[in-house]
Amino acid sequence: MGSNKQEVEVSYDVSNEFFRLWLDERMNYTCAVFESEHQSLEAAQLNKLSILSDFAKVTANKSVLDIGCGWGACLEYLATSRSVKRAVGVTLSSSQAEEVNRRKLPGVECVESDFMKWETTEKFDALVSICMLDHLCSPEEARKGKAIDIYRAYFKKCHEVTNPGAWFGLQTILRNKIPRIKKDLEDIYFCTHVIFPGGLNPRLEDIVQAVNPYWEIITVKQRRHDYERTTAEWLRRMRLHEARIRQEWGDHVFDDYDRYLSTCVRAFDQFYSSLAQYELRRLDA
Ligand SMILES: C[S@@+](CC[C@H](N)C(=O)[O-])C[C@H]1O[C@@H](n2cnc3c(N)ncnc32)[C@H](O)[C@@H]1O
Repeated sequence: MGSNKQEVEVSYDVSNEFFRLWLDERMNYTCAVFESEHQSLEAAQLNKLSILSDFAKVTANKSVLDIGCGWGACLEYLATSRSVKRAVGVTLSSSQAEEVNRRKLPGVECVESDFMKWETTEKFDALVSICMLDHLCSPEEARKGKAIDIYRAYFKKCHEVTNPGAWFGLQTILRNKIPRIKKDLEDIYFCTHVIFPGGLNPRLEDIVQAVNPYWEIITVKQRRHDYERTTAEWLRRMRLHEARIRQEWGDHVFDDYDRYLSTCVRAFDQFYSSLAQYELRRLDA
């Protein structure tokens, strides 16, 4: 179902040092939210984490689960800026789990597992999940009409791992318009199949249907131009390190990531893709 461990590792295990070169200092690999024209990527990433933590009603006395925790940017924010008593992250990537553990964050645990197969008896007070859902349904499964059932199984699992009264700060990429220009279509196909194999960005209407009967949507924020700006900044920073990347990881890594990030900038500009943040409240019987 969606990206398996080998496919996720294609996306995230190129090398932690490679991603460290062009992401912000905490290594958020998702859309930042810019409050002003001159705000730095670092500040905009903290702003994103603050918005999602507020959606999840995070306070110091709560336990929080970060589903698809990446290299630990949100876990670090929860532990250091929100002083939560416990934060658990789940990732399918070994390199990411290694980086989270290297940070030795107070009250933080990282679980290397497929969230959908993770067996836990622990119940959390709040959830955050930032662009992990984009891995859950493959293009083939979407073509067979399985997307909503797959996303519903995820929202059911999210319900099962929470306490009554929980809130959820969710962020997903969205796919919107299909390009009519051949090159754009080929570039998006390349990103989907080569950079993020096994996954497909959801449609907004799929999410709206799939949350039922587990979560109530309170707020949806559209951040398409924030992701255009984030990916443009990643591309700018990556190009500053072209010589080193070509030397250490090979021409194909630089060329593939240059094509992928350039495609993202265009896709968000052209409305082929969007980004949404959701404030969700757990529905209790
Ligand atoms: C785009 S990254 C986002 C990482 C992080 N949330 C951030 O904002 O930087 C997607 C994350 O989802 C994780 N992921 C994808 N499928 C997963 C699954 N089935 N179970 C657990 N984690 C998964 C990946 O390992 C990765 O950490």
